[in-house]
Amino acid sequence: MNLIVCKNYEEMSLTAAAQAADIVSAPGEHLISFPGGDTPLGMVREFSRLVNKGGGVAEGISRTRYVQLDEWVGLGAEDAGSCARFNQENLLNNLRHPFLGVHLIDGLAASLEAECGRLNAFIDRHGPLDLSVLGIGLNGHLGFNEEGVDFEKTAHIIPLSETTKKVMRKYFDRDRDLEYGITQGIRHIMAAKKVILIANGAHKAAILKRAFTGPVTNAVPASILQRHGNCTVIVDRDAAVEL
Ligand code: PGA
Repeated sequence: MNLIVCKNYEEMSLTAAAQAADIVSAPGEHLISFPGGDTPLGMVREFSRLVNKGGGVAEGISRTRYVQLDEWVGLGAEDAGSCARFNQENLLNNLRHPFLGVHLIDGLAASLEAECGRLNAFIDRHGPLDLSVLGIGLNGHLGFNEEGVDFEKTAHIIPLSETTKKVMRKYFDRDRDLEYGITQGIRHIMAAKKVILIANGAHKAAILKRAFTGPVTNAVPASILQRHGNCTVIVDRDAAVEL
């Protein structure tokens, strides 16, 4: 694991965006995935800015496909707080140069099993991921791969952990009764050629320590990244104190 400690959130965001832009700029076609939420917001905005500046990244984006990491079951792209909406508002709608292809997850799909199948099919056809950018939950989740997740799974539906249900309140303007998530699996993440995990704030310090210095266990899903051959952890100083 490569560790990059940044002085603050902004530097973390710029560093991660620059690394993502480098991958997109490289020759050939690419498949990339970003998370949604507070942690990646700065990175996603900076990435959009780099694309819109033109040059190699803008050219590379036309050879790059984008796939969503996860979604709340019960929310669609129109719903505030959905990951699809986050992607549209902060990334897709802002790019002057479009991706070669985009796969968003529909948390309102009539058949969630078929929705997992669509996600798997997109990644099978265009993957493996060249870059998977991830956040880390307070329980160590990656996407919605919650505690106890089967590391062998691809896309699946999973009950949200109590920790996730508590944290999610900040993303919704009213109480939502969300019980499940749909997510890329750990198999997709571990098959990615490069993983970037971003985290900021003192509240993430303890879980980062468990994930990267403790045993590899599905009780802390992010600990599996210790076995990834090309994982860069980009954190601010507050999150890094126990690493
Ligand atoms: P956060 O979530 O950005 O709300 O801290 C991170 C995550 O759950 O991956």
